[in-house]
Amino acid sequence: MKRARRIGILTAGGDSPGLNAAIRGIGKAAMGNYGMQVVGFRDGFRGLAEDRSVRLDRRLSGILTVGGTILGTSRDKPHRMLVDGEVMDMTGAVVSTYERHRLDALVCLGGGGTAKNALRLVRAGLNVITLPKTIDNDVVMTDATFGFATALDVATDAIDRLHSTAHSHHRIIVCEIMGHRAGWLTLGAGLAGGADVILIPEIPYSVESIAEAIRRRVRSGSNFSIVAVAEGAGEPSHAEAFRQAEARKRAASTPEEIQAAVAGLAAVEAAHEGNTLRLAAHLEALTGLESRVTILGYVQRGGTPSPADRLLATRLGSSGADLIAQGVFGVMVAARGEGTEPVPLDQVAGKRKPVPRDHSWVLAAQHVGTCFGD
Ligand code: F6P
Repeated sequence: MKRARRIGILTAGGDSPGLNAAIRGIGKAAMGNYGMQVVGFRDGFRGLAEDRSVRLDRRLSGILTVGGTILGTSRDKPHRMLVDGEVMDMTGAVVSTYERHRLDALVCLGGGGTAKNALRLVRAGLNVITLPKTIDNDVVMTDATFGFATALDVATDAIDRLHSTAHSHHRIIVCEIMGHRAGWLTLGAGLAGGADVILIPEIPYSVESIAEAIRRRVRSGSNFSIVAVAEGAGEPSHAEAFRQAEARKRAASTPEEIQAAVAGLAAVEAAHEGNTLRLAAHLEALTGLESRVTILGYVQRGGTPSPADRLLATRLGSSGADLIAQGVFGVMVAARGEGTEPVPLDQVAGKRKPVPRDHSWVLAAQHVGTCFGD
């Protein structure tokens, strides 16, 4: 086995608190324990295709507590990248950059989509590992993803703050939390913050049953309510349209079919835009309580990573360096209990971990009387 001497790192997909902690974790462990050189690539797979790199040796100190990613990120995919207005397969350019830098391994920090792109590069002959990050916490085969804990703190704090103003004005406050496809963040923050209603993509809701839960609270003397709603939560018709659009995307094989399926999915998402505002107006009409909306948006993704995320990112990063030194590639470094474990990328790529209906957080919320609108 050839000893790894030079490794590349990139961050892809939406940014997430803890990315810099992970870059530092893997970089310091790779340099300090194994004498490797570490090169960063800017803006995800695009920077790799365009060979925009930065030596990380002297850039790893002082970044543990910094939000975002010092490398920059993008949602570009190696095999379908917009170049001069045209969609191009840049896999060849990526392989050339890897060879030009004489890399022995590439580390991609990202979610399920990044794992899918990483697997494509493994199939193109590169040594790749991934680390799971996303505030959505929806990566399969890992206990957790870094970014989630920080976002959970932010969203819970927001719900705490909304309580006192909702209570004072006898209002419904609908708080939109990130998560187009997975409800972990809304569920976690809703449960920790004591939201009266929690709406997640995995459990389609009926506006009438939410209104009835709010009216029940009014009858029992609580004339305010907090509704925590995930971006992707909706009524059964939305859930069904989304399911069908995703199934079409999975089944698509020709470039034309893939393009049509991607457009179909985007159309379903576009039709859902503004849903939180519509929901609040609808609840106001059905309950007679004044309603207001708070959209948390990108504050959930920005800023200083929490201690829990710094720990997780450092743990995963340093284990990643060990795996590269052992010559283990084509895997995601998963968190398992107190340890870490390599999981083959084909078990992770393109997959998503939804909230199971019988998850202990759902059951606990139901036990304390939280309405899921079902
Ligand atoms: O990082 C995941 C996520 O935060 C989702 O919850 C959210 O819907 C999405 O990214 C939005 O990100 P962007 O606007 O950067 O595409």
